[in-house]
Amino acid sequence: MPHSIVIFGASGDLTSRKLIPALYRQYLRDRLPKPSRIVGVARSAFSTDQWRSQLGESTAKYVKGEFNAEAWNSFSQNIFYCPGDIANQDDFVRLGAFLQEIEENKPADRVYYLSTMPQLYASAIEQLGKAGLHNDQIGQRRVVIEKPFGTDLATAHSLNDSIHQTFREDQIYRIDHYLGKETVQNILVLRFGNTIFEPLWNRNYIEHVQITVAEEVSVGRRGGYYDKAGVLRDMFQNHIFQLLMVTAMEAPVRYTGEFVRDEKVKVLQAVRPYRGSDFAEFGIRGQYLGYNKEEGVPNDSQTETFAALKLYIDNWRWRGVPFYLRSGKAMSCRSTQIVIQFREPPHMLFGDQKSYRPEANRLVIQIQPGEGVQIFFQSKVPDSDMRLRLSELDFRFDSSGKEPPDAYQRLLLDAMLGDPGLFARSDEVEQSWRIIDPIITAWKSPAAPSLNIYEPGMWGPTQCSEWMQNQGRTWFDTCPILPLG
Ligand code: BG6
Repeated sequence: MPHSIVIFGASGDLTSRKLIPALYRQYLRDRLPKPSRIVGVARSAFSTDQWRSQLGESTAKYVKGEFNAEAWNSFSQNIFYCPGDIANQDDFVRLGAFLQEIEENKPADRVYYLSTMPQLYASAIEQLGKAGLHNDQIGQRRVVIEKPFGTDLATAHSLNDSIHQTFREDQIYRIDHYLGKETVQNILVLRFGNTIFEPLWNRNYIEHVQITVAEEVSVGRRGGYYDKAGVLRDMFQNHIFQLLMVTAMEAPVRYTGEFVRDEKVKVLQAVRPYRGSDFAEFGIRGQYLGYNKEEGVPNDSQTETFAALKLYIDNWRWRGVPFYLRSGKAMSCRSTQIVIQFREPPHMLFGDQKSYRPEANRLVIQIQPGEGVQIFFQSKVPDSDMRLRLSELDFRFDSSGKEPPDAYQRLLLDAMLGDPGLFARSDEVEQSWRIIDPIITAWKSPAAPSLNIYEPGMWGPTQCSEWMQNQGRTWFDTCPILPLG
């Protein structure tokens, strides 16, 4: 079936940096439905030719060695620009006529991609509805919505309500680009495509779990947005919770969108809400030194650029196992990893002194930029009595040294082909806000734990390491070793 993808907010950075390069790469791999037409909508007054040539330059920059002038020329024949303002109903009527014309009045599936300012999502959808562009009698109609989806539970709920006035839930694709990462999908394969992990994947063998998303970058020029969001909205409510769900979920009945999303949302439903002193004791707040001098950030900002949280999942599998989640900007290195820390052996067979005492096993799932899995286990020190040492099995996800596909490649194609499995469902988004909202509120109150300032280039505030140590645990603070490539 022919396909049209309509990008609202076409003049924005996401379109040139991510969306068009992703579509171009899928075109090179011959994976796009034929024909696939791309229509940009924004207020700026470009012509189609101008937009094509701008995108040609930006795509060449972002896809680097994959750029081929001949392939781009043929791909870009299906790129169009249709100026329009979301506030103007007539522009949507004009867009409808434009789409029919380029679709040659034949049935075509359509994806409407909202990459505008989040405040405009609801009105864009309402306008699509009023112009009849949501009507799916002559082809599928889907809408892709970029993050952030709301700024708290109330706004997310009302956005869901207002989208549901126009589109059915099965037409709505809420993006969380973490789900498009190959290594995140690989967690499901690791857990459910093997028999050796799943029997151990529970409270009987696992002592605790750590999920770290450390970023080396600071907020840069995004201070204006970031200061209102803070790390809990920017990283926890979406990306980190996605990692939590795939790590902790039960096996779905089948690998299809709804079954997978059913199991994921149950994890969030089982997260124990914070009560009373938990708000102060189950988390650490931090801000990197110099954050309040960044462009767009007030001098007296109390916004967290780092947070660590301890959560419990109250179900049969996880009862009593702490999940430590942390994320921050301006940290030591870029590293997203999940550490499954197993329990110590029940009996110290070889002696109780340090070199005879086994350290607990650890499974490290490296999401990015190191992509792989490591298992740490004990082995005998050769030619010693019975001394032990920590050894490592190291798996690299892709040993070819090639750059992994960008998350948007998979997500855009899935949206076009109608596979919602890697997108967030309305209940999932609302559950995640239900967990994070009370923490955000408590952390803004006078009873909030103190905001710890940390030096850029560290693993967050020193108080965070002490907090872990006081609980008899340590963070796995290791920067990934990257393959040469
Ligand atoms: C975005 C956040 O959603 O994710 C950014 O707004 C963050 O602040 C980015 O830097 C991280 O994504 P990735 O894919 O680089 O880990």
